[in-house]
Amino acid sequence: MNYDIVIKGGTVVTATDQFPADIGIADGKIQAIAKQLEGTRQIDASGLLVMPGGVDTHCHIEQLRADGTTDEDSFITASTSALAGGTTTAITFSAQFKGRPIGPSLAEYHRRARSAMIDYSFHQIITDATDAVIQEEIPALVASGVRSLKVFMTYDPLNVDDRGLLRILAAARRTGALVTVHCENYEAIRWRTEALLAAGHTAPKYHAWARPEVVEREAVFRAIALAELVDQPIQIFHVSCTEVAEEIARAQARGVKVWAETCPQYLTLTEDDMDRPGLEGAKFMCSPAPRKKGAIEGLWQQIRRGTLDVVSSDHSGFSFGTAQGKGIAGGADNFRDIANGVPGVAARLPLMFSEGVAKGRIDACQFVRLTAYNPARLFGLTNKGRIAPGADADLVLWDPSKKVTLTNALMQHDIDYTPYEGMEVTGWPVMTILRGQIAMQDDKVVAEPGSGRFIPRGPYDLIKPTGRLPNDFDASAFA
Ligand code: URP
Ligand code: ZN
Ligand code: ZN
Repeated sequence: MNYDIVIKGGTVVTATDQFPADIGIADGKIQAIAKQLEGTRQIDASGLLVMPGGVDTHCHIEQLRADGTTDEDSFITASTSALAGGTTTAITFSAQFKGRPIGPSLAEYHRRARSAMIDYSFHQIITDATDAVIQEEIPALVASGVRSLKVFMTYDPLNVDDRGLLRILAAARRTGALVTVHCENYEAIRWRTEALLAAGHTAPKYHAWARPEVVEREAVFRAIALAELVDQPIQIFHVSCTEVAEEIARAQARGVKVWAETCPQYLTLTEDDMDRPGLEGAKFMCSPAPRKKGAIEGLWQQIRRGTLDVVSSDHSGFSFGTAQGKGIAGGADNFRDIANGVPGVAARLPLMFSEGVAKGRIDACQFVRLTAYNPARLFGLTNKGRIAPGADADLVLWDPSKKVTLTNALMQHDIDYTPYEGMEVTGWPVMTILRGQIAMQDDKVVAEPGSGRFIPRGPYDLIKPTGRLPNDFDASAFA
């Protein structure tokens, strides 16, 4: 057979194996993985690794805020950044605001996302578990292919209380959706924040003091307990340290369907980064907060144990110097008023490859599992994250020995900084291919706005409930 494109002479890395082979592509799909394939167009991959395009299942893109503004990266700039870093698929967020219905806002996200240049899906943030949301809106959005819900246990005005969380878990169980959770104790953070500000502790470094590890661990314990009560599978977002991961490992060991992600910021940044002069530390403020240096090796150990099986970026576009961004230019001068979140969709794969594979903490197959295969499998992106006949031809050609010093310009986002400025990485994407089309080559993104596609996600077995319920009573059938 003559393929449209053949990727020739590279080392193919899948979730389980690494071997020399060519890849034959036709109609945007992988058709063959073998030696000596011929195609209309040949791409020389000698000396390169050929891996699945990155799948980043936690990206905030053009997310609307209650005041009508959005995260600064648009679908075009965030896609550009994703492709620059080797990522071809993202799950981004549609936010509900309290007192407002979901339908019109989800339609608005679909409209905005039409300019995307990567493939995408949505997590629906539920902030208001009203009867209409639980009984009508969640079933409708899951039927439309938005098969994951996001709950915040903290943050005004997004946080949901325990009763709301139980109702959302029950609705997800009935409709066959996965629930993702931001776990931090809302009241504990409020209480400590007020005390810190009263004591005159306003600098960015006190962001970490307001939400120490125990605040995250308590919420993770509670989220898992409530999910267990409902028998509803969940994923814990952005785990920052070992003591939290151990809480998850205990639940996994007793058979609870709980998965967990961490992010490159927790594997590279520390609370010392927030202690830079003036308000500079705001560039590293995210929630949960980066921890002490020692937390990093602990997280790698939890990755190797499999407790943490996804690494996402939690990409959040807040510039340092704009009023719309971190808020400093608009007058925010204490940690409570500075927006949380760091940009990272482009840096995710280079940081994970460099800190993980190049430093010998994980192998290349584990890298593929963490950054592409596992996230695709967990969220029902059935054609993504794999190099196999029939899968979408989403690939990244990777130079494993290229050394690059990270700069904001290389991130190609619309944010005025990167928290990773000046870090040297080993390993860099030289070409990104989306459904058989070259989307990035040698740092130049060539994809057209609108070339990305929405991926509706249907039902899949992995996220089915276990059937184990306290007293064998399924309360979710009634409440
Ligand atoms: O600080 C963070 N992580 N910002 C993004 C929103 C979230 O909590 O995921
Ligand atoms: Zn979060
Ligand atoms: Zn997030």
